[in-house]
Amino acid sequence: MSDSNTMTPIQVGLDDGYAFTKVALPDGRLIAIPSRARVGKSGVTWIHDGQQRIFEYETEGAMYSVGAVDGAPTHFEGYPTSGMNRAIVQHALQEAGLAGRSVHTVSGLPVSAFYKKKGEQRRDTIEKKRNSLKQVVQPMMERLPAGIAFVDVIPEALAAWYDYVIVAKGDEVILDEERLSVPIAIIDIGGRTTDYVVVKDQGVIHTSSGSLQGGMLDVKQSVADGIQERFDLESVGEQLVSHAVDRGVARLYGKNHDVADLVDAAKRELVERLYAETRRQLGLGVELDRVLFVGGGTVALVEHIADWFPNQAIAEHPAFANARGMLKYLQYVCEESDVA
Ligand SMILES: Nc1ncnc2c1ncn2[C@@H]1O[C@H](COP(=O)(O)OP(=O)(O)OP(=O)(O)O)[C@@H](O)[C@H]1O
Ligand SMILES: [Mg+2]
Repeated sequence: MSDSNTMTPIQVGLDDGYAFTKVALPDGRLIAIPSRARVGKSGVTWIHDGQQRIFEYETEGAMYSVGAVDGAPTHFEGYPTSGMNRAIVQHALQEAGLAGRSVHTVSGLPVSAFYKKKGEQRRDTIEKKRNSLKQVVQPMMERLPAGIAFVDVIPEALAAWYDYVIVAKGDEVILDEERLSVPIAIIDIGGRTTDYVVVKDQGVIHTSSGSLQGGMLDVKQSVADGIQERFDLESVGEQLVSHAVDRGVARLYGKNHDVADLVDAAKRELVERLYAETRRQLGLGVELDRVLFVGGGTVALVEHIADWFPNQAIAEHPAFANARGMLKYLQYVCEESDVA
Protein backbone atom coordinates (compact mmCIF):
# COMPACT_ATOMS: atom_id res chain seq x y z
CA MET A 1 0.00 0.00 0.00
CA SER A 2 1.41 3.40 -0.82
CA ASP A 3 2.30 6.04 1.75
CA SER A 4 -0.14 8.44 0.19
CA ASN A 5 -3.02 6.31 1.40
CA THR A 6 -4.24 8.56 4.17
CA MET A 7 -5.84 5.68 6.07
CA THR A 8 -2.52 3.88 6.53
CA PRO A 9 -0.52 5.14 9.49
CA ILE A 10 2.91 6.40 8.56
CA GLN A 11 5.95 5.56 10.70
CA VAL A 12 8.31 8.38 11.66
CA GLY A 13 11.34 8.83 13.90
CA LEU A 14 10.84 12.02 15.89
CA ASP A 15 13.80 13.60 17.69
CA ASP A 16 12.18 16.71 19.17
CA GLY A 17 15.22 18.38 20.72
CA TYR A 18 15.59 21.72 22.45
CA ALA A 19 17.34 23.27 19.41
CA PHE A 20 16.00 21.39 16.37
CA THR A 21 13.11 19.01 15.75
CA LYS A 22 14.25 16.23 13.44
CA VAL A 23 12.00 13.84 11.53
CA ALA A 24 13.12 10.66 9.76
CA LEU A 25 10.70 9.16 7.22
CA PRO A 26 10.55 5.61 5.81
CA ASP A 27 11.32 6.86 2.28
CA GLY A 28 14.70 8.11 3.54
CA ARG A 29 13.77 11.79 3.82
CA LEU A 30 15.27 13.65 6.81
CA ILE A 31 13.66 16.93 7.84
CA ALA A 32 14.73 19.42 10.53
CA ILE A 33 13.11 22.63 11.72
CA PRO A 34 14.37 24.94 14.47
CA SER A 35 12.55 24.33 17.76
CA ARG A 36 11.40 27.92 17.73
CA ALA A 37 7.95 29.24 18.65
CA ARG A 38 6.08 31.94 20.46
CA VAL A 39 2.96 31.89 22.59
CA GLY A 40 0.10 33.75 20.90
CA LYS A 41 -0.86 34.71 17.37
CA SER A 42 1.79 36.07 15.04
CA GLY A 43 0.06 39.42 14.29
CA VAL A 44 1.15 39.13 10.67
CA THR A 45 -1.28 38.85 7.75
CA TRP A 46 0.08 37.10 4.68
CA ILE A 47 -0.83 38.70 1.39
CA HIS A 48 0.24 35.67 -0.62
CA ASP A 49 -0.38 32.35 1.08
CA GLY A 50 2.53 30.80 -0.78
CA GLN A 51 4.95 33.07 1.06
CA GLN A 52 3.72 32.31 4.53
CA ARG A 53 6.64 31.96 6.93
CA ILE A 54 4.87 31.94 10.28
CA PHE A 55 2.30 29.26 11.10
CA GLU A 56 -0.21 29.20 13.93
CA TYR A 57 -1.32 26.17 15.92
CA GLU A 58 -3.71 25.64 18.78
CA THR A 59 -3.42 22.99 21.47
CA GLU A 60 -5.23 22.74 24.81
CA GLY A 61 -6.82 26.14 24.20
CA ALA A 62 -3.50 27.98 23.75
CA MET A 63 -2.17 29.47 20.51
CA TYR A 64 1.43 29.19 19.27
CA SER A 65 3.23 30.76 16.33
CA VAL A 66 5.94 28.60 14.76
CA GLY A 67 8.40 29.35 11.97
CA ALA A 68 10.20 32.61 11.25
CA VAL A 69 9.48 34.11 14.65
CA ASP A 70 11.99 35.35 17.16
CA GLY A 71 11.42 32.33 19.30
CA ALA A 72 10.98 32.20 23.02
CA PRO A 73 13.67 29.97 24.55
CA THR A 74 12.72 26.30 24.61
CA HIS A 75 15.23 25.55 27.33
CA PHE A 76 12.84 25.52 30.24
CA GLU A 77 12.42 22.46 32.41
CA GLY A 78 9.01 21.26 31.18
CA TYR A 79 9.63 21.84 27.46
CA PRO A 80 9.49 18.17 26.35
CA THR A 81 5.86 17.88 27.54
CA SER A 82 4.70 21.44 26.84
CA GLY A 83 2.15 22.83 24.39
CA MET A 84 5.01 24.69 22.71
CA ASN A 85 6.76 21.37 22.05
CA ARG A 86 3.56 19.92 20.55
CA ALA A 87 3.06 22.94 18.27
CA ILE A 88 6.65 22.66 16.99
CA VAL A 89 6.30 18.89 16.47
CA GLN A 90 3.04 19.44 14.56
CA HIS A 91 4.76 22.02 12.37
CA ALA A 92 7.60 19.57 11.63
CA LEU A 93 5.04 16.90 10.66
CA GLN A 94 3.25 19.43 8.42
CA GLU A 95 6.56 20.35 6.79
CA ALA A 96 7.12 16.63 6.20
CA GLY A 97 3.86 16.58 4.20
CA LEU A 98 1.89 14.59 6.77
CA ALA A 99 -1.21 16.81 7.04
CA GLY A 100 -4.25 14.61 7.61
CA ARG A 101 -2.16 11.50 8.26
CA SER A 102 -2.21 9.15 11.21
CA VAL A 103 1.32 8.91 12.59
CA HIS A 104 3.09 6.14 14.52
CA THR A 105 6.25 7.41 16.10
CA VAL A 106 9.16 6.87 18.46
CA SER A 107 10.53 9.90 20.24
CA GLY A 108 13.14 10.46 22.95
CA LEU A 109 14.10 11.97 26.27
CA PRO A 110 17.60 12.88 27.46
CA VAL A 111 19.31 9.90 29.13
CA SER A 112 19.06 11.45 32.62
CA ALA A 113 15.36 12.22 32.14
CA PHE A 114 14.71 8.64 31.00
CA TYR A 115 16.68 6.69 33.63
CA LYS A 116 17.24 7.20 37.31
CA LYS A 117 20.90 7.05 38.31
CA LYS A 118 20.89 3.29 38.88
CA GLY A 119 19.11 2.52 35.67
CA GLU A 120 15.49 2.27 36.75
CA GLN A 121 13.17 3.92 34.19
CA ARG A 122 11.35 7.10 35.17
CA ARG A 123 7.95 5.75 34.21
CA ASP A 124 5.98 8.89 35.09
CA THR A 125 8.14 11.15 32.93
CA ILE A 126 8.03 8.71 30.03
CA GLU A 127 4.24 8.34 30.28
CA LYS A 128 3.81 12.11 30.44
CA LYS A 129 5.83 12.55 27.28
CA ARG A 130 3.81 9.89 25.43
CA ASN A 131 0.51 11.43 26.51
CA SER A 132 1.62 14.92 25.60
CA LEU A 133 2.55 13.97 22.04
CA LYS A 134 -0.81 12.24 21.55
CA GLN A 135 -2.80 15.41 22.29
CA VAL A 136 -4.48 17.12 19.36
CA VAL A 137 -2.79 20.13 17.76
CA GLN A 138 -4.96 22.08 15.33
CA PRO A 139 -3.32 24.08 12.51
CA MET A 140 -4.97 27.49 12.17
CA MET A 141 -4.59 27.53 8.40
CA GLU A 142 -6.66 25.40 6.08
CA ARG A 143 -4.80 22.20 6.75
CA LEU A 144 -5.69 19.00 8.52
CA PRO A 145 -3.67 18.07 11.57
CA ALA A 146 -1.28 15.12 11.59
CA GLY A 147 -2.49 12.93 14.45
CA ILE A 148 -0.09 10.87 16.54
CA ALA A 149 -1.90 7.59 17.24
CA PHE A 150 1.00 5.60 18.68
CA VAL A 151 4.15 6.82 20.41
CA ASP A 152 6.98 5.10 22.26
CA VAL A 153 9.87 6.88 23.97
CA ILE A 154 13.52 5.78 24.21
CA PRO A 155 16.65 7.51 25.58
CA GLU A 156 17.99 9.92 22.97
CA ALA A 157 21.59 8.74 22.65
CA LEU A 158 20.48 5.09 22.73
CA ALA A 159 18.50 5.83 19.58
CA ALA A 160 21.80 6.57 17.85
CA TRP A 161 23.05 3.15 18.98
CA TYR A 162 20.06 1.48 17.26
CA ASP A 163 20.90 3.50 14.17
CA TYR A 164 24.46 2.15 14.37
CA VAL A 165 23.61 -1.54 14.86
CA ILE A 166 20.58 -1.83 12.54
CA VAL A 167 21.95 -1.43 9.03
CA ALA A 168 20.67 -1.75 5.50
CA LYS A 169 22.68 -4.18 3.37
CA GLY A 170 21.37 -4.01 -0.16
CA ASP A 171 17.65 -4.66 0.02
CA GLU A 172 17.91 -6.25 3.43
CA VAL A 173 17.95 -4.73 6.89
CA ILE A 174 20.11 -6.64 9.33
CA LEU A 175 21.43 -6.48 12.87
CA ASP A 176 25.16 -6.01 12.47
CA GLU A 177 26.46 -8.80 14.76
CA GLU A 178 29.93 -7.34 14.98
CA ARG A 179 28.69 -3.90 16.01
CA LEU A 180 26.24 -5.54 18.41
CA SER A 181 28.86 -7.59 20.24
CA VAL A 182 31.42 -4.91 21.13
CA PRO A 183 31.30 -2.19 23.79
CA ILE A 184 30.63 1.24 22.32
CA ALA A 185 30.06 4.76 23.62
CA ILE A 186 27.76 7.29 22.01
CA ILE A 187 28.28 11.00 22.69
CA ASP A 188 25.33 13.13 21.57
CA ILE A 189 26.21 16.83 21.58
CA GLY A 190 22.88 18.65 21.40
CA GLY A 191 21.46 22.07 22.09
CA ARG A 192 20.74 21.96 25.78
CA THR A 193 22.25 18.63 26.82
CA THR A 194 25.12 16.38 25.89
CA ASP A 195 24.16 12.74 26.38
CA TYR A 196 26.46 9.79 27.05
CA VAL A 197 25.51 6.16 26.61
CA VAL A 198 27.79 3.15 26.88
CA VAL A 199 26.35 -0.11 25.56
CA LYS A 200 27.97 -3.46 26.23
CA ASP A 201 26.50 -6.93 25.65
CA GLN A 202 23.35 -5.14 24.48
CA GLY A 203 22.89 -3.50 27.88
CA VAL A 204 23.33 0.11 28.96
CA ILE A 205 26.22 0.61 31.41
CA HIS A 206 24.62 3.13 33.73
CA THR A 207 27.79 4.15 35.57
CA SER A 208 29.14 5.61 32.31
CA SER A 209 25.87 6.96 30.96
CA GLY A 210 24.05 10.20 31.69
CA SER A 211 23.52 13.78 30.56
CA LEU A 212 25.60 16.90 30.95
CA GLN A 213 23.66 20.17 31.04
CA GLY A 214 25.50 21.85 28.21
CA GLY A 215 25.33 22.17 24.46
CA MET A 216 25.22 24.56 21.54
CA LEU A 217 22.51 26.73 23.11
CA ASP A 218 25.14 27.78 25.68
CA VAL A 219 27.32 28.93 22.80
CA LYS A 220 24.37 30.90 21.48
CA GLN A 221 23.78 32.51 24.87
CA SER A 222 27.43 33.59 25.26
CA VAL A 223 27.49 34.98 21.73
CA ALA A 224 24.27 36.91 22.42
CA ASP A 225 25.79 38.37 25.60
CA GLY A 226 29.01 39.21 23.74
CA ILE A 227 27.22 41.02 20.90
CA GLN A 228 25.08 42.96 23.36
CA GLU A 229 28.10 44.10 25.27
CA ARG A 230 30.32 44.91 22.30
CA PHE A 231 27.69 46.96 20.47
CA ASP A 232 26.01 48.34 23.58
CA LEU A 233 22.58 46.90 22.76
CA GLU A 234 19.76 46.33 25.21
CA SER A 235 18.69 43.14 23.50
CA VAL A 236 19.46 41.08 20.42
CA GLY A 237 17.03 38.95 18.42
CA GLU A 238 17.31 35.20 18.49
CA GLN A 239 17.49 34.84 14.69
CA LEU A 240 20.34 37.37 14.52
CA VAL A 241 22.27 35.37 17.12
CA SER A 242 21.65 32.05 15.31
CA HIS A 243 23.02 33.60 12.15
CA ALA A 244 26.05 34.93 14.03
CA VAL A 245 26.83 31.48 15.48
CA ASP A 246 26.52 29.81 12.07
CA ARG A 247 28.40 32.41 10.01
CA GLY A 248 30.52 34.45 12.47
CA VAL A 249 28.80 37.63 11.26
CA ALA A 250 26.28 39.89 12.98
CA ARG A 251 24.17 42.23 10.87
CA LEU A 252 23.38 45.44 12.74
CA TYR A 253 21.86 48.61 11.29
CA GLY A 254 22.32 47.21 7.78
CA LYS A 255 26.03 46.47 8.19
CA ASN A 256 27.90 43.21 8.71
CA HIS A 257 30.21 42.92 11.72
CA ASP A 258 32.73 40.13 12.17
CA VAL A 259 32.04 38.35 15.48
CA ALA A 260 33.94 35.13 14.72
CA ASP A 261 36.16 35.69 17.77
CA LEU A 262 33.10 35.69 20.06
CA VAL A 263 31.83 32.46 18.51
CA ASP A 264 35.22 30.81 18.76
CA ALA A 265 35.68 31.78 22.42
CA ALA A 266 32.18 30.48 23.27
CA LYS A 267 32.84 27.18 21.48
CA ARG A 268 36.15 26.73 23.28
CA GLU A 269 34.50 27.26 26.63
CA LEU A 270 31.88 24.60 25.87
CA VAL A 271 34.46 22.19 24.47
CA GLU A 272 36.53 22.44 27.65
CA ARG A 273 33.52 21.45 29.75
CA LEU A 274 32.61 18.66 27.35
CA TYR A 275 36.13 17.31 27.37
CA ALA A 276 36.30 17.20 31.17
CA GLU A 277 32.90 15.48 31.41
CA THR A 278 33.78 13.01 28.66
CA ARG A 279 36.96 11.99 30.48
CA ARG A 280 34.97 11.62 33.69
CA GLN A 281 32.34 9.42 32.04
CA LEU A 282 34.54 7.38 29.71
CA GLY A 283 38.10 7.68 30.99
CA LEU A 284 40.55 7.03 28.17
CA GLY A 285 38.07 4.70 26.51
CA VAL A 286 40.60 1.86 26.21
CA GLU A 287 37.95 -0.82 26.70
CA LEU A 288 35.60 0.72 24.19
CA ASP A 289 35.69 -0.54 20.65
CA ARG A 290 34.35 2.68 19.33
CA VAL A 291 33.34 6.16 20.46
CA LEU A 292 30.65 7.51 18.16
CA PHE A 293 29.85 11.23 18.05
CA VAL A 294 26.31 12.24 17.05
CA GLY A 295 24.07 15.33 17.36
CA GLY A 296 24.14 18.72 15.67
CA GLY A 297 26.83 19.93 18.06
CA THR A 298 29.16 17.36 16.51
CA VAL A 299 28.88 19.22 13.20
CA ALA A 300 29.37 22.62 14.79
CA LEU A 301 32.36 21.53 16.91
CA VAL A 302 33.96 19.07 14.51
CA GLU A 303 37.38 20.78 14.53
CA HIS A 304 37.48 20.87 18.33
CA ILE A 305 36.71 17.20 18.94
CA ALA A 306 38.89 15.72 16.22
CA ASP A 307 41.38 13.80 18.37
CA TRP A 308 39.76 12.89 21.66
CA PHE A 309 39.93 9.11 21.16
CA PRO A 310 41.98 7.03 18.70
CA ASN A 311 38.91 4.87 18.01
CA GLN A 312 36.38 7.67 17.53
CA ALA A 313 34.06 8.20 14.58
CA ILE A 314 31.40 10.66 13.52
CA ALA A 315 28.05 9.27 12.43
CA GLU A 316 26.77 10.01 8.96
CA HIS A 317 24.62 13.19 9.07
CA PRO A 318 25.21 13.21 12.84
CA ALA A 319 22.34 15.58 13.64
CA PHE A 320 19.89 12.93 12.36
CA ALA A 321 21.40 9.83 14.01
CA ASN A 322 18.82 9.78 16.82
CA ALA A 323 15.86 10.37 14.50
CA ARG A 324 17.02 7.57 12.16
CA GLY A 325 17.53 5.24 15.13
CA MET A 326 14.06 6.05 16.46
CA LEU A 327 12.54 5.14 13.11
CA LYS A 328 14.52 1.87 12.96
CA TYR A 329 13.48 1.06 16.53
CA LEU A 330 9.85 1.57 15.53
CA GLN A 331 10.20 -0.47 12.34
CA TYR A 332 12.27 -3.38 13.62
CA VAL A 333 12.26 -3.51 17.42
CA CYS A 334 8.79 -2.43 18.62
CA GLU A 335 6.49 -5.43 18.95
CA GLU A 336 3.50 -5.54 16.60
CA SER A 337 1.31 -5.87 19.67
CA ASP A 338 2.67 -2.59 21.09
CA VAL A 339 1.79 -0.68 17.97
CA ALA A 340 -1.66 -2.17 17.43
N1 LIG B 1 24.43 21.09 9.98
C1 LIG B 1 24.85 21.81 11.02
N2 LIG B 1 25.92 22.61 10.93
C2 LIG B 1 26.36 23.35 11.97
N3 LIG B 1 25.76 23.34 13.17
C3 LIG B 1 24.70 22.57 13.33
C4 LIG B 1 24.18 21.76 12.27
N4 LIG B 1 23.08 21.10 12.73
C5 LIG B 1 22.96 21.49 14.02
N5 LIG B 1 23.90 22.37 14.37
C6 LIG B 1 24.10 22.99 15.69
O1 LIG B 1 24.00 21.98 16.66
C7 LIG B 1 23.16 22.37 17.71
C8 LIG B 1 22.48 21.18 18.30
O2 LIG B 1 21.62 20.56 17.36
P1 LIG B 1 20.77 19.27 17.75
O3 LIG B 1 19.76 19.10 16.69
O4 LIG B 1 21.68 18.13 18.04
O5 LIG B 1 20.13 19.77 19.13
P2 LIG B 1 18.87 19.16 19.87
O6 LIG B 1 18.80 17.70 19.64
O7 LIG B 1 17.69 19.94 19.50
O8 LIG B 1 19.24 19.47 21.40
P3 LIG B 1 19.01 18.51 22.69
O9 LIG B 1 19.53 17.18 22.30
O10 LIG B 1 19.82 19.18 23.77
O11 LIG B 1 17.57 18.53 22.95
C9 LIG B 1 22.24 23.42 17.10
O12 LIG B 1 21.91 24.41 18.04
C10 LIG B 1 23.09 24.03 16.00
O13 LIG B 1 23.79 25.16 16.50
MG1 LIG C 1 19.35 16.02 20.64
